[in-house]
Amino acid sequence: MADAVPGRFCPVSYRYRAEALRGPAQLSVETLWVAGGLYGNPFALQRLAELYDREPGAKALIFNGDFHWFDVDAEDFRLIDESVLRYRATRGNVETELARPDAAAGCGCAYPEWVGGTTVEHSNRIIERLRSTARSFPRLLERLAALPMHLVAEVGGERVAVVHGDADSLAGWGFSQERLATADGAAAGAAALAAANARIFACSHTCLPVLQRFAGGRAVANNGAAGMPNFRGTSFGLATRISIEPSRLALYAVRAGDLFVEAVPIDYDAAAWNRRFLAQWPAGSDAHRSYFERIAGGPSYAMSQALRPEAPHTIASARRAA
Ligand SMILES: [Fe+2]
Repeated sequence: MADAVPGRFCPVSYRYRAEALRGPAQLSVETLWVAGGLYGNPFALQRLAELYDREPGAKALIFNGDFHWFDVDAEDFRLIDESVLRYRATRGNVETELARPDAAAGCGCAYPEWVGGTTVEHSNRIIERLRSTARSFPRLLERLAALPMHLVAEVGGERVAVVHGDADSLAGWGFSQERLATADGAAAGAAALAAANARIFACSHTCLPVLQRFAGGRAVANNGAAGMPNFRGTSFGLATRISIEPSRLALYAVRAGDLFVEAVPIDYDAAAWNRRFLAQWPAGSDAHRSYFERIAGGPSYAMSQALRPEAPHTIASARRAA
């Protein structure tokens, strides 16, 4: 059965429901930064911290999972872990499979059918190698295991649900650009926003960014990757910034009610990152085969594809569809 292939399915422990996000907010700020998919890039971490430090007012930065991935070097692993955990963080599938390994889950990515089998095999071997690094840091692994799978933040009095995957699972692909481009996917997104009583979902996991607006001034903001390029011919990562005030950093942005939802470029030192990546994952290695082309020149995805017009589904019709 295809579902039993490691890396292709969501373990039961990853699952929750959008209703689990209806509870009270755990933090209240004027500006929230959400950075998923750092993927072990210390240069992106450094640049992100610099940009965030300049942010005025009441603020928070949440690393919403997969901050580890390429950092198989022990020093890099320790640096990424200790630095990220100075901020708020939630678990991604990578941290979960490091802290609570489930051999049957592989990388825990729950890759959908449009991702090729070779990529899945590479990812399952990458997590194995990363696990062997992580075993040297039992205390850090305890901290990763204790991280939540999701958070709710209040930004300017509006509820923002922060997840790694989607409204139902840590590794769900419901908020991928591919799924949100379909009528069913957009309807499910609108239903999830209603079920979580959220103005915005901030997510990551699916590797490509999308900023999808919904009726009623709601939005799903998927930052793609903070630590890898997200668009063809570029060399910067992205974070999501949600605030009562606009910034000058936004690559593209939408309004959601009174909030500004922005995609902020994390313009890290790309040459230094390429060297650091190659030192850990030389040509022929699993990560090199799956990711180096993207790290060096970006994915085949354009910025114009990420910013979406309002989905043609009202919350009411989405509720009927759900
Ligand atoms: Fe992920």
